Amino acid sequence: MNVLVIGSGGREHALCWKLSMSTGVDRMYCVPGNGGISDIAECHDINAGDTAGLLEFTKKMKVDLVVVGPENPLAGGIVDVFEAKGIPIFGPVARGAAIEASKIFSKELMRASSVPTAPFEVFDDHGNALGYIRAKKPPFVIKADGLCAGKGAYVIRDMAEAESVLKELMVNGIYGEAGRKVVIEEFLPGVEASYLAFADGNTILPMPASQDHKPLLDNDLGPNTGGMGAYTPIPFLNDGLEREIRDGIMLKTIAAMREKGISYKGVLYGGLMLSGGKPYVIEFNARFGDPETQPIIFKMESDLLPVLVACVEGKLRDIEEIQWKEGVSVCVVIASKGYPENPEKGKLIRGLDRLAGMRDVMVFHAGTRKSGSEYLTSGGRVLGVTALGSTYEDAIQKAYEAVNLIDFEGMYYRRDIGKKALTVGQIL
Ligand code: AMP
Ligand code: GLY
Repeated sequence: MNVLVIGSGGREHALCWKLSMSTGVDRMYCVPGNGGISDIAECHDINAGDTAGLLEFTKKMKVDLVVVGPENPLAGGIVDVFEAKGIPIFGPVARGAAIEASKIFSKELMRASSVPTAPFEVFDDHGNALGYIRAKKPPFVIKADGLCAGKGAYVIRDMAEAESVLKELMVNGIYGEAGRKVVIEEFLPGVEASYLAFADGNTILPMPASQDHKPLLDNDLGPNTGGMGAYTPIPFLNDGLEREIRDGIMLKTIAAMREKGISYKGVLYGGLMLSGGKPYVIEFNARFGDPETQPIIFKMESDLLPVLVACVEGKLRDIEEIQWKEGVSVCVVIASKGYPENPEKGKLIRGLDRLAGMRDVMVFHAGTRKSGSEYLTSGGRVLGVTALGSTYEDAIQKAYEAVNLIDFEGMYYRRDIGKKALTVGQIL
């Protein structure tokens, strides 16, 4: 099979890396890709949003399976277009991707089908929203309805902040139409978990649960980012809780969409809050998480290709089980100086050769490009240094040992990735 992965991040590097090892893959393509991906896949400079260009490329290269990484093309209906042309593509149709692209759609679906989530109200009028929050006591959460590159949720601690957020979103339109409507919801205290599952329209096969580290600084301080690191599995789940998530959240959501005539295929990603011993959905994503995919895929023993094909064909039930490697997988993201606001670019990355050939360590590239035989930084999140270990301590130590071998001007990383797994007793 010829496979095309769309995207350019660490998530896509992990997917290309895993797929390129599959005996079923003849040619591996990635658009636009990055420096690391170009070592294992043929990269072409087509924008992920250029559906017509991608369609043409797919036909020319005789691509048998397309795998979509990021949310924007999914929300824009790339799967609908490719399906209509009979080209197998992994990901949900636009009406399915709305579970991520519209918080209102997602929250209303959950309310209607009794999927546990924070109580909420929806507003499209600034005056009404203002009146509502003035009668509320912080903390609460204001969320833009549409896609805002992960920046549309505000945990409100005081009233002045709430009023300013509402004004920015609904009056000043800092995110355009995406922020004109908002969801205002209750704050849920607890521990966050990412629960990703393969879906084929009817059933799911879960991946091991993981945990992201969204804030920029250690101890979850500073601004939110796309994610500064992740690890899997998490120690906070027992069998009962996992069953509740699988049946009471994930399968129920797939079924609720099916009732609306949406066959949800691809990855359903539940961003969960484990609060008071129960799981609640903070948000759904319609795709693989980044950076969660890096440690999850590094832990995957089974071939990824048949699983993706089974999702597309609606035959996930034929895959009896996915095998996962023993132990813990940890990914530490190395970012550029200035990330997330204004990352520096063009810095020479040193030390990657020292990591080549290490069995339990893999460096997934995100914002890198190749110049001759060297790699330069080209974005905010640059590398995802991923390690497998027998215990949390072991995997964390291996990941940071590898991080210490890498060097570029202004590089920054959190020093506490995985720490919550070690202090679980204090959390729950
Ligand atoms: P979201 O974009 O919806 O994932 O929200 C971004 C972050 O805001 C989440 O990862 C949580 O840390 C926090 N958050 C969002 N909604 C809530 C909530 N209802 N209660 C507590 N924290 C929340
Ligand atoms: N790691 C968060 C996300 O993929 O949205």
